[in-house]
Amino acid sequence: MTILVHSNSELRTALNGLSNNICLVPTMGALHEGHASLIKLAKKYVGSTGCVIVSDFVNPKQFGVNEDFEKYPRNLDSDLIVAQNAGANILWAPDVKDVYPGQWPLEVETDLRFEILEGRNRPGHFSAVIEVVTRLFDIVQPNAAVFGEKDFQQLILIKEMANKRNPKIGIIAGPTRRDKDELALSSRNVYLSSDQRNAAALIPQALKLAIKESKNGANVEMLKSIVKNKLKESDLIEIDYVEILGNDLNAIGANENARILIAVKLGDTRLIDNMSVQLKGNL
Ligand code: PAF
Repeated sequence: MTILVHSNSELRTALNGLSNNICLVPTMGALHEGHASLIKLAKKYVGSTGCVIVSDFVNPKQFGVNEDFEKYPRNLDSDLIVAQNAGANILWAPDVKDVYPGQWPLEVETDLRFEILEGRNRPGHFSAVIEVVTRLFDIVQPNAAVFGEKDFQQLILIKEMANKRNPKIGIIAGPTRRDKDELALSSRNVYLSSDQRNAAALIPQALKLAIKESKNGANVEMLKSIVKNKLKESDLIEIDYVEILGNDLNAIGANENARILIAVKLGDTRLIDNMSVQLKGNL
């Protein structure tokens, strides 16, 4: 049975009597199978006696002025069902005043990696993500927290923040859940028309093609072209970036396990995805 709470005091009351071995799964709601797999991972981490809290908060600060904050899908009733089926103990849907009481913001230490990839077109986005996650950690004080690998840049930046600021909180990476055609599950997929949805299948195809060609010796520049050419098979896809970086998001070094990262737009909908690629010998 999942308890739904809103305010921080309701959260504290709900936690009374539950285990203090807590794993937090931060989300912005619109929960789907991808989130369910993160919740199950959290449950596995804390075990049957531990406590999984799913936060459900559409953080206004991480949306730019022209982004989809207003239209971001919200459905607490169905979120509760997904959370419950996946085994969460508490679904916590706080209000802005619970997450940002009084004086805020927090000083976020940034570096170049906040400004590349997703950060390039979304100034301030990752500082806002780090700020809200820090705040959620302060309120919940979990032992661990789970974040999806689909948002790879977010995962890496949060991991480093947690290592510095809250080293006792274990950061667990949840593998990307994919649809039958391997499109990464995302709350934004609901915006796609059926033609756009079909075209979106080219995203995982492009990534897998690059992985295959890297094994055949293609170098970084060749791999990027291969990915771009695959995506260009549909004129519904507008490429924002195709990048290959080291696993810490710095430039790739020699013999590196790297990451191919893609962002595209289909109409107004922006989708991202990434996969691991082995570049040994073919930089
Ligand atoms: O990935 C998300 O859903 C959000 O960026 C997060 C981590 C919940 C912070 O608002």
